[in-house]
Formats: sequence, structure tokens, C-alpha cells
Amino acid sequence: MKKILVTGGTGFIGSHTVVSLIERGYHPVIIDNLDNSCRTVLDRVERICKVRPTFIEADVRDASALDAIFSEHDFECVIHFSGLKAVGESVEKPMRYYSNNVEGSIALLKAMRKHECWKLVFSSSSTVYGDPEQVPITESAKLSVTNPYGQTKLMVENILRDLSHADQRWKFTLLRYFNPVGAHESGLIGEDPNGIPNNLMPYIAQVAVGRLESLRVWGNDYDTPDGTGVRDYIHVVDLAEAHINALEHFKPSHGCRAYNIGTGEGYSVLDMVKAFEQASGQRVPYSIEARRAGDVATSYADAGLSAKEIGWAAQRGLAEIMRDQWNWQHNNPNGYTEQ
Ligand code: WQD
Repeated sequence: MKKILVTGGTGFIGSHTVVSLIERGYHPVIIDNLDNSCRTVLDRVERICKVRPTFIEADVRDASALDAIFSEHDFECVIHFSGLKAVGESVEKPMRYYSNNVEGSIALLKAMRKHECWKLVFSSSSTVYGDPEQVPITESAKLSVTNPYGQTKLMVENILRDLSHADQRWKFTLLRYFNPVGAHESGLIGEDPNGIPNNLMPYIAQVAVGRLESLRVWGNDYDTPDGTGVRDYIHVVDLAEAHINALEHFKPSHGCRAYNIGTGEGYSVLDMVKAFEQASGQRVPYSIEARRAGDVATSYADAGLSAKEIGWAAQRGLAEIMRDQWNWQHNNPNGYTEQ
């Protein structure tokens, strides 16, 4: 069974990818410092897959921990999720982001090189496109970042690009996620943000389940059909599957290749509120507030290259997203912490 190292594998996207890896016959080995996740996730993955993934509690910046893991396991490939991802927090605490996201990636690459493991699937983000000049966004669109979080993603992309130019043995696939949402259909794993959610979908779900009073809609004066922000919301299970497609599609002269992971459809904030109310049968009261600094009006993917080169396209639409988001939140009103 091919072993895959999954950094950040107890996180939201990481845990869903671990489930998909097991289901597609791989042996995932998770390294996670549990900074933004918990061990309960491992119990839930075991309940879904009837297999408990190998787990090492360690920080990806810990060179000796990485050395020990690579000495014990012969990995086919690494999927690198671990990192911090809150845009607002990155503005307040940039050094935390550069240390976790950039230093962590460099430490991982050094360990990979020492142990001659040359394939990496990297968790990048549509944030690297900044405010797009046109939509849908293609992989050749201009890259421009407006916050430290986005900067760390772009810096690691550039490091991987330079490494692959310097040494042909490296093979890198950068997956630029649009907006990950939803949950596994079992309702056993899902997004469990620390504190008040920054992102739209967990916030809506927490209003519906009664944890939060009302949704604040950040601006309704954008140049969009209903004035609210438009985004490309990708079901987290579709996103998980994209990682397995990526690791199965490394080419002989691969180098460093970037792919958009989105549906190619854009939905507004009010579209999402309406769809969630329909799916959950719950009301989601909201108020219109001022725009949030750094937000763009519209962002959605051209996912044609992913379909062509890694044989991946989103299978799940708005109805599945809302059904699964509500199923997770309804079954876990306080996330994992209530266990
Ligand atoms: C979506 C829309 C908001 C919350 C960010 C990161 C990106 C990725 C996904 C990591 C926007 C509106 C939101 C709320 C609202 N993360 N909104 N009220 O900003 O598109 O992307 O998360 O990779 O890198 O930048 O996602 O969910 O925060 O916002 O009105 O309480 O919902 O204005 O239009 P975003 P989001």
C-alpha cells in the first residue's frame, strides 16, 4: 500500500483528504501539531473508514521529528496542508504566518530532499490572484497578494517553482483552492474554526444552529447581481478528491504545475443564505454592514486545466454543499469540542 505523508491531516481539508486516500487504497501518515485541530478527528476518521490513520503529533518545523518520520516510512508523495489560514489574523500577526507557512514548508522540503522524496502536492489558494482583472480566473492570471497569508502562499509557490527549475527530480503540483465548504456526508467530520468564524459558510451554519445571533453581510454595493460578494464554493469532498487525482497525475517531466480547484460557478452571499435556509429549514437573519477590508467583488475559477491535466472536476453542487454543511453543524452544534 503506497504511503502518503499528510501534513496538517487533522484539519478541515486534511481530514477529508485522509478519508479519500484510505478509500482509494492509500496509507496516509499524518503529522499535525494540533494547533488548529484535535485528536477527536482521528476517532471520526476511524468510524468512517474502519481504519485508524497513523498519526504523529509534531510541528512541521521540527527537523528532527521530520527526520524520524521519513526514516521510518518510505513515502510515495507528500500532501502539504499544514499552515495558518486566517487572512485577518495574518495582518495582525505576520511573523506567525511566515514562520508556520514558509519556514514550515522549507523544513519539509529539506527533509524530503534528504530522504529523496521528490513529489509534493501543495495546498495553495485562489488568494494568490488578489483582485482578478477578469473572471473566470485561469492559472495564467496575474498573481498579486494583498495580505500576509496570501503572501506566504505565493512565496511557497515561488520556492517550489525555483526548486523544480534547479533540480528536475522535484515534482510539484500546486492546488489553488477557491472557497472550501461543506462536510463529509456522514456528518462526522467538518469545519470547526476556533472562535468566531471568519468565513461565510461556518458563520451561516452557526447562526442556523443558534450559536450566533445574526449574519453580518459585508457590503451589498459591489458590482454584482445583488450587490454582495460572489465566490466559487467548492465542496470539501470534491476538493479532497482533487489531491488524489493530483498525486496520480505526476508526469515524467513534471516540474511545477498549478491548477485551480473550483466549480467554475459563482454564488453571492445572499444566494448562499437563501440556499442554506432552503436546505436546513432554518432562518438565517442577517444585516447589511460596510465592506470588509481586502475583499474583492467577484472571484470564481476556470477549472478547465484541472479537468484536462489531472482528470478532476467538481461533482457536488450547492444542494449537496448545503445539505452536508447543515448535517455536520446540526450533529455537532459545538464542533468537536463537545465530545
Ligand atoms: C466569502 C464572502 C465576504 C463572512 C477566504 C480567504 C481564502 C480562503 C477562503 C484559505 C465574501 C462574505 C464572509 C461573513 C460575509 N481561505 N462574508 N460575512 O474572503 O472569499 O476567502 O477564505 O485559503 O484564502 O481569503 O471567504 O468566506 O471569508 O467570504 O458577508 O461573516 O462572504 O465578504 O464576499 P473569502 P469568506
